[in-house]
Amino acid sequence: MKRLIKNEVYWVGITDWELRKFHGDEYSTDRGSSYNSYLIRDEKTALVDTVWVPFGEKFVDNLAAEIDLKKIDYVIANHAEVDHSGALPELMRRIPDVPIYCTSNGARCLSGHYHQDWNYHTVRTGDHLNLGSRELVFIEAPMLHWPDSMFSYLTEDNILFSNDAFGQHYATEFLFNDKVDQCELFAEALKYYANILTPFNRLVRKKIEEFLSLELPLDLICPSHGVIWRDNPGQIVEKYLEWSNEYCENQITIIYDTMWNGTKCIAENIAEGLTSAAPAVAVKLYNSAKTDKNDIVAEVFKSKAVVVGSPTINKGILTSIAGLMEEMRGLGFRGKKAAMFGCYGWSGEATKRIGELLDRSGFTVVDEGFKAQWTPTDQAKDDAADYGRNLIAQFDI
Ligand code: FEO
Repeated sequence: MKRLIKNEVYWVGITDWELRKFHGDEYSTDRGSSYNSYLIRDEKTALVDTVWVPFGEKFVDNLAAEIDLKKIDYVIANHAEVDHSGALPELMRRIPDVPIYCTSNGARCLSGHYHQDWNYHTVRTGDHLNLGSRELVFIEAPMLHWPDSMFSYLTEDNILFSNDAFGQHYATEFLFNDKVDQCELFAEALKYYANILTPFNRLVRKKIEEFLSLELPLDLICPSHGVIWRDNPGQIVEKYLEWSNEYCENQITIIYDTMWNGTKCIAENIAEGLTSAAPAVAVKLYNSAKTDKNDIVAEVFKSKAVVVGSPTINKGILTSIAGLMEEMRGLGFRGKKAAMFGCYGWSGEATKRIGELLDRSGFTVVDEGFKAQWTPTDQAKDDAADYGRNLIAQFDI
């Protein structure tokens, strides 16, 4: 069912209430998601983006119930990833000659995904498409978050179709940001930014500054996941500027895995030390084997510093910590401090290994870390608390 957004601009997407994992199993979507597609009716009719592959046929059938598909003059593919282009094979089967507007990288990606010789019209920043009373203006947005990504801006109604940027994996019965729980909305928007856009911080800032310099009025930001920013759409733009600039809150996150609870015990004592030295700092603890990794990444994103612990096993570290370290390497955090800890029986290499991995991931490692042999004694627990107290100064908090 199409839903009116503004002046003959309609949402025609799919809400995926069931989705719990995205990008294979890589990203947790505890609140589902949506694949937003938009239909613009004017003298000419344009369809902006489609939906994920499993919903392709349903999407096209829904669309055909709303409009004679032959009346679609243009398809706009802001991004070729399959969650937005997945209905194209079915749609183009029914309207094979309709031009698809996308970047040159977009055409390359779509060809790579679907191996079809569709009628591509490649565009660059500043190119216009006249729909009658309004125009679509295209703005390339490479690495927000793929090389092919672009924005489309509808004049007169002042709508930015931003694709993945400004999105959230958030299924809701409501279309607009002012209709949903604000804590949930911003938690999902931040998790999305932390896990998907952190590696591209510099490019995010540059693109937003370029967009703002165009001084285009902005009434709506319509992303391709989650709700539409209608109430003060500039607020999410401001958030992106904050988040892209070595963002942190007054928080330290302790992440650990444990075999026989020794490393867990040290984690808790370091937390006590941190809190006693800096009561205003939020100190959070997560067992990486029991906590969703994307949620941990969101907490790391908010942190001034992280303290990471693992017992030593086979001269290395437990796999849940190793996996998280690989995730953090890819994200490339900047401006955050780090320390390490762990229990050991015989050789105790874990802290050194974690330190190397944190350093490789862009953290500033402040010392050699804290180690405790065997089950922590009362003395070791006190020492761990002292270590935590001393970290506050090392973290410049
Ligand atoms: Fe890059 Fe929502 O896909």
